[in-house]
Amino acid sequence: FQPKVLAGKRILITAGPTFEAIDPVRGITNLSSGKMGYAVARAAREAGAEVVLISGPTALATPHGVQRINVQSAQQMHDAVMAAVDAQHVFIAVAAVADWRVANASDQKMKKKDDGSVPDLKFEQNPDILATVAARTSLAGYPYCVGFAAESENLLAFGAAKREKKGIPLLVGNIGHHTFGQDDNTIILFDENGHTILPRADKLTLARQLISEVSKRLDKYSLF
Ligand code: C5P
Repeated sequence: FQPKVLAGKRILITAGPTFEAIDPVRGITNLSSGKMGYAVARAAREAGAEVVLISGPTALATPHGVQRINVQSAQQMHDAVMAAVDAQHVFIAVAAVADWRVANASDQKMKKKDDGSVPDLKFEQNPDILATVAARTSLAGYPYCVGFAAESENLLAFGAAKREKKGIPLLVGNIGHHTFGQDDNTIILFDENGHTILPRADKLTLARQLISEVSKRLDKYSLF
């Protein structure tokens, strides 16, 4: 039984990887399965929130009662988030967004060259969706922003620093770097008071705990 701690709240969540096209049939992506973001969406819905899930390509079913918007690239994810963010009380960025996109992607399928020469791919940086929403929040006062971080070392130091750098009230750190695609996880919550470890559990259990922690903080958050 989940208490409806988020009844009447609107929550926007990003999940999954992004896919950055090289040409119409090729692209660059990462190993995010989307499981954690989908679990957070499910837990938020169970807690009574209206949930919009903006998802990169995944093989997962949409959680019951959740509105899902499918995107491929980081730019599309950014645009979908910006179009939806106005009405939201909470934004939880779980997606593993590609840091770079291919600047010279080809409109046509690239041909393999007989002389063995290879494509000269150029990259440009993608927008940081979470930092963009967080900067906006500092003016509007909402949504309450939650970020995720997957660091392979020194998570305690990096997590606190990343929370500050992104300008967000709550950052969720994944312990270790074997979490992509796994069903279990250990997470650390970083907020203005320090950190709290949530011991290893399946992603849905952790997602429910995270939603409960978010709802407690929302109660104290200004403008709610
Ligand atoms: O800076 P880093 O990629 O480690 O930050 C991870 C957090 O920022 C995650 O919450 C992720 O969803 C979010 N992020 C984003 N847009 C990006 C890169 C990361 O929203 N371009």
